[in-house]
Amino acid sequence: MSIRPILIHPDPRLKKRCAPVAEITPEIGKLAEDMLETMYDAPGVGLAAPQVGVLQRLFVMDCVKEEGAEPRPMVLINPEIVRTSDETNTYEEGCLSIPEQYGEVTRPERVVMRWMGLDGKPQEEEFDGLWATCAQHELDHLNGKLFIDHLGAIKRNMITRKMAKLKREKARG
Ligand code: NI
Repeated sequence: MSIRPILIHPDPRLKKRCAPVAEITPEIGKLAEDMLETMYDAPGVGLAAPQVGVLQRLFVMDCVKEEGAEPRPMVLINPEIVRTSDETNTYEEGCLSIPEQYGEVTRPERVVMRWMGLDGKPQEEEFDGLWATCAQHELDHLNGKLFIDHLGAIKRNMITRKMAKLKREKARG
């Protein structure tokens, strides 16, 4: 396993609609392992393939937060939303591609998702709480959408300017 560099917004690769995974190859298995390691190292609760520069439809997540609880690493390939609840939830979201910036996003409180596991088998599950927010945030990434696209233009532009400045400073070293 290895930690992959995470792309920082603004980056054109974070704005693309990703292509479905056609086949579960050893490369996809390696990518999923690396993404989990990269996510835990960051640390974060979710990471989508485009965030490591791979424009394919998969993401990883683990929203277990309780101290000492067993981790639950999940790999979702070609995920789709089956159903969403009418009730909504507002969470302060962040993103590993937009470090240290946060904003309140309202999304359905519960979501049923269907996806393919690394074993190629279809899976379906209802997520709620932080899991539901995270799953929807990561699915957005596969459609080239970031959490700041749910915010007002003023806040979005402010965050984008900050990130562009941060990247210029990093590039200068
Ligand atoms: Ni994100």
